[in-house]
Amino acid sequence: MLALEQLKECLQSSGQEHVLQFWPELSEEQRESFLQQLRVLDLPGLRRHCEGAARAAAAPAARLDQHIEPIPAEAIGSVQTSDETSLEHWRNEGLLQISKNHVGVLLLAGGQGTRLGVPYPKGMYNVGLPSNKTLYEIQAERIHRIQELAGLKHGSKCTVPWYIMTSEFTLAPTERFFKENNYFGLEPSNIIMFEQRMIPAVTFDGKIILQGKGKIAMAPDGNGGLYQALVDNKVLEDMGKKGVEYLHVYCVDNILVKMADPVFVGFCVSKGADCGAKVVKKVSPAEQVGVVCRVQGVAQVVEYSEIQPETAELRGPDGELVYSAGNICNHFLTRAFLLDVSETFQSQLKQHVAIKKVPFVDRCGNLVKPTKPNGIKMEKFVFDIFPFSRKFVVFEVKREDEFSPLKNADGAVVDTPTTARNSLLAQHCRWATAAGATLLDVHGNPRVSAEDSPPVQFEISPLVSYFGE
Ligand code: UTP
Repeated sequence: MLALEQLKECLQSSGQEHVLQFWPELSEEQRESFLQQLRVLDLPGLRRHCEGAARAAAAPAARLDQHIEPIPAEAIGSVQTSDETSLEHWRNEGLLQISKNHVGVLLLAGGQGTRLGVPYPKGMYNVGLPSNKTLYEIQAERIHRIQELAGLKHGSKCTVPWYIMTSEFTLAPTERFFKENNYFGLEPSNIIMFEQRMIPAVTFDGKIILQGKGKIAMAPDGNGGLYQALVDNKVLEDMGKKGVEYLHVYCVDNILVKMADPVFVGFCVSKGADCGAKVVKKVSPAEQVGVVCRVQGVAQVVEYSEIQPETAELRGPDGELVYSAGNICNHFLTRAFLLDVSETFQSQLKQHVAIKKVPFVDRCGNLVKPTKPNGIKMEKFVFDIFPFSRKFVVFEVKREDEFSPLKNADGAVVDTPTTARNSLLAQHCRWATAAGATLLDVHGNPRVSAEDSPPVQFEISPLVSYFGE
């Protein structure tokens, strides 16, 4: 265990000696907790991290226009354009894999959800559905149902283990919430929570930010911290023991997420893919979502800021956007590919710069809440392993059926509790209508469309229906 003197030396040699500037003022207890925090820092890598962050933040944004091309048609499947026989084949393949316990789901739930602004993990959020279900509960029920559907089809009792990546901010409340809710009726041993790493936030000149006199400002290392966390927590071994060969990775905030979607899983398995991405068509060239495409021949997600508007606006002969494959953080990964990533490619993953307002203590030790961005948080992204895939495929789905993320508090224009709630209600109205129901408004008059506003308050439990069946 490193003593104070050694820590001082390490910090000094990384140009971070200011971290201990308030040491003399700390109580014994504060010193002990600060030491604990300092000891888990990657001290040998500290200089590289801090200087790298400052350099990356100062560098001009990369422009990839000259190097990109769309994903070739043969690597794309689509709910809208693939024929019914293919869709049926993929669905059956997916259900078969699920029935054999080969499929797990992995939830990325380590984010701080700063835009939504609630002091608890986003998965615990209740968007105001008639049932008052939280995002976690909806997801748990979808797992129940897909296990049931696969089991019914193949006469077996099967399990879809639920891996949940959390962070220092979300682990304890998430564990408590699951326990209080009796794990939503799932077998606790099939819910595997683990924690991603945290890294220090730094100033634009590469100095670690102190958030208290004895506390460093730390942030989770991005959802691409998943790959390190899988190694740290021996998750791939657990998957191996459970027989899980295919993983569906998704974000906590998409209320429409089809976990372990058999059609997507079946498509990827049938194509022999080691990595797949679900996408939705961009609504407009200017929509600020990453686009799945190829850069210098390899699959990658290109951010809106990395291409010129002219490139985003390019259209093909039929008028469709050339770069329309909007990334929705919904991925298929094989365990074999994850093993490769953890053994070989881990260290090559890109670092992305996020410029944020990070509360800090000034020279006099007063806590300051900055009004403009003052800090850099380095993040890895879950999709940054795409370039290492040997067989990468894309599956296009309908936005109204599969993607409605909760990012912002009500009052914002997009991706709010209201938009998420309405997307789910509208979907359930469409399902009911397709099954022959007539929707009535509060006065008993038939509604013309499920999309009418205000939305019909009609909700179907995921325990009853997974994709409208
Ligand atoms: P977002 O990029 O939307 O971030 O994460 P966020 O933390 O939820 O929200 P803001 O940006 O602070 O408002 C997309 C997904 O990645 C997960 C989130 O939990 C969400 O499911 N994530 C993000 C992690 O698991 N770890 C991270 O370090 C960051």
